[in-house]
Amino acid sequence: MSNAKLSLDGKEYEFPLVVGSENEAGVDISSFRKATEGAITLDYGYANTGSCESAITFINGEKGILRYRGYPIEEVAEGARFTEVCYLLIHGHLPTQSELDSFRDGLTYHSMLHEDMKKFFEGFPSSAHPMAILSAMVASLSAYYPDSESDEQLDLNIIRLLAKAKTIAAYAYKKRVGQPFIYPKNDLSYTQNFLHMMFAVPAEEYQVPEVLDHALNLLLILHADHEQNCSTSTVRMVGSSQANLFASISAGICALWGPLHGGANQKVIEMLERIQADGGDYEKYVAMAKDKSSDFRLMGFGHPVYKNYDPRARILKKASDRVLEELGVDDPLLDIAKNLERIALEDEFFVERKLYPNVDFYSGIIYRAMGIPTQMFTVMFALGRLPGWIAQWKEMREDPKMRINRPRQIYIGENERHFVPIEKRG
Ligand code: ACO
Repeated sequence: MSNAKLSLDGKEYEFPLVVGSENEAGVDISSFRKATEGAITLDYGYANTGSCESAITFINGEKGILRYRGYPIEEVAEGARFTEVCYLLIHGHLPTQSELDSFRDGLTYHSMLHEDMKKFFEGFPSSAHPMAILSAMVASLSAYYPDSESDEQLDLNIIRLLAKAKTIAAYAYKKRVGQPFIYPKNDLSYTQNFLHMMFAVPAEEYQVPEVLDHALNLLLILHADHEQNCSTSTVRMVGSSQANLFASISAGICALWGPLHGGANQKVIEMLERIQADGGDYEKYVAMAKDKSSDFRLMGFGHPVYKNYDPRARILKKASDRVLEELGVDDPLLDIAKNLERIALEDEFFVERKLYPNVDFYSGIIYRAMGIPTQMFTVMFALGRLPGWIAQWKEMREDPKMRINRPRQIYIGENERHFVPIEKRG
């Protein structure tokens, strides 16, 4: 493979092929509009469009493969701590012990919020969705920590963001339940610190249960990056205007919120609760999902990229049994989920369309068993996705080929017409 040929209006054009390290081919159409004197390509949802070359995450959706910097997700999930994965994604290699120690020290040292920022929480109603709080507070970090002018400053802002986002997330929860904020503790790990800030109260001692720590570590790792998805592309798009790190990531958090993306984990639990409240008749809901006259979809099923079992869902399905058993939780929603999955995997409608459970299908069950409320699920996703967004933002900023993202359109509106003064409009 070398070039792609395109014939348009009787004229032939050639465009170079770019081949990635896993042999995926892309036609480089950077010169398309200029060469064809004004034609563009049209690709709804960008499903056939590569926006960049990236060395961070590899996915083969047909085969169900996911690798971070070349390491299979199964191996990373089995052996790593989340902070190591953050380092790997952002810096491109697994840290040595001393690199990891100083990275962790930074994350520990910067985990408190500026005291003035605590006052922001007073302004939100207690009914505020924690995603609204998280995105607003992350954007607000740019008011305290100005734009990074050197590599050292950028590294520091990256550490600040990773360290403070979990504090913001825990405070958003405390605000909701009306409990006092719990300050981070420097003798706790990243995941332990988050759980401590979520579940401790000043009135008594709280020891982070190991099972929660392990489950959270696994969940954050599995969400850490997923190449050019909707929120990551948003982070890159906003960052392409040279907006600062905090503003770009805040935009990504908003993009994640939608139910077709990260918001699906909340929707999965709401769907399972609805099925349970309706007598547990899951077959009825499978039938509804197949019925084209209903707009009901099985939440947590299907993926724009995976046309095979999502490898993260496979890991989480196993983990959900283990975590619920260790916590002694018997959740009828898990049975409904398993039955839905069994039926859907056998059903011709789902098989034909290659609709498999995605990462959100089992993550909510685990979060629920951990005592994390449904409205916090997408926040948990965002905490996990932070290192991926940061790594992608940094890669974009360092790529000499990057330019401001500015898609084109095919205009389908009115042709030129003349303005009519209001008294003459019929
Ligand atoms: N339930 C029922 N039918 C579905 C589902 C579903 N969850 N997902 C897709 N389909 C059907 C569609 O109706 C369509 O059928 P048709 O060909 O007869 O018209 C076909 O499968 C293809 O659907 P598209 O929407 O074109 O698939 P796409 O790849 O664009 O969408 C998406 C992927 C948005 C994830 C979709 O599968 C969906 O809405 N799933 C539910 C929400 C969800 O779980 N989102 C989380 C995604 S993962 C993540 O962001 C972490």
